[in-house]
Amino acid sequence: MTILITGARGKVGQGVIKRLQAAGRPIRAASAEPSGDDVIELKLDRPETFEAALHGVDQVFLYPAPDGIDAFVKVAEAAGVSHIVLLSSSSVLGPDADTDPLASHSLIVERALAASNITCTFLRPDAFASNALGWGYLIGQNMPIQLAYPDANIAPIHPDDIADIAADALTGDALRGRSITLTGARSLTFREQLAILSDVTGREIPVEKISHAEAEQQMGRYMPAPVVGSLLALWAAASAGPAVIADTTETLLGKPARTFEQWARENAAAF
Ligand SMILES: NC(=O)c1ccc[n+]([C@@H]2O[C@H](COP(=O)([O-])OP(=O)(O)OC[C@H]3O[C@@H](n4cnc5c(N)ncnc54)[C@H](OP(=O)(O)O)[C@@H]3O)[C@@H](O)[C@H]2O)c1
Repeated sequence: MTILITGARGKVGQGVIKRLQAAGRPIRAASAEPSGDDVIELKLDRPETFEAALHGVDQVFLYPAPDGIDAFVKVAEAAGVSHIVLLSSSSVLGPDADTDPLASHSLIVERALAASNITCTFLRPDAFASNALGWGYLIGQNMPIQLAYPDANIAPIHPDDIADIAADALTGDALRGRSITLTGARSLTFREQLAILSDVTGREIPVEKISHAEAEQQMGRYMPAPVVGSLLALWAAASAGPAVIADTTETLLGKPARTFEQWARENAAAF
């Protein structure tokens, strides 16, 4: 039976496609902006694109998009979908998840899926290692990285680890139907992540501590104010001590979690 994979251009979506193809599973890759004949158009906020994408599909790997989720569930139920693996977020577990802009889109989608008659697996990763790409331009220009909370602790997860876990949830029974919080295996501060990037790229990466207000102003140039507020509050809280390690590829699949160093080596050209 066909497995629909949404977010074909996304970092995790690409990995899920590769793994299921290698396992010989019939897949249908879907993207909001498809390129190539083997990817179909699916815009998760445009219900008119759902029926063709879901026809004959048994399982779905889903990116969370709240606009359109109720219609997506209806069409998926009608198509006979039996299992959806959602790329959710650990932020849904926060105390203010309903109002937190980092969490609310995933939470709305989780709730709509939980109310359906489809078995759902919620993968709730913490921060991706690939978020470090946000420093790419500044590092490439040999400019300092200015942070209000350089000692915030995070256990970054390699997107390929999430893809491994998602592929396992779609092909086996052990993870099916579970809600699983995911991290990498090691807590690192932003300073430590930048030191690793410096080692791997051979570039000097100076770190400058700035005030909360300065960071708010800088980040506000490219992010909505509520998202900036939420991120800064998260990093302030994360400065208190090491990040909690949740489930990893080691605990779930018995294979070591990929390290941040590995992610940095694989992506060194981006810096
Ligand atoms: N980055 C993190 O630290 C982190 C942590 C926890 C959870 N997450 C969750 O993981 C997801 C991806 O994270 P990312 O920031 O790293 O991005 P990403 O891997 O670059 O993936 C984003 C992809 O989402 C798909 N998408 C978005 N809106 C869509 C829509 N309306 N219709 C169809 N597809 C849509 C797009 O795929 P196509 O263009 O191929 O359609 C896009 O490439 C987000 O939902 C985020 O909440 C991220």
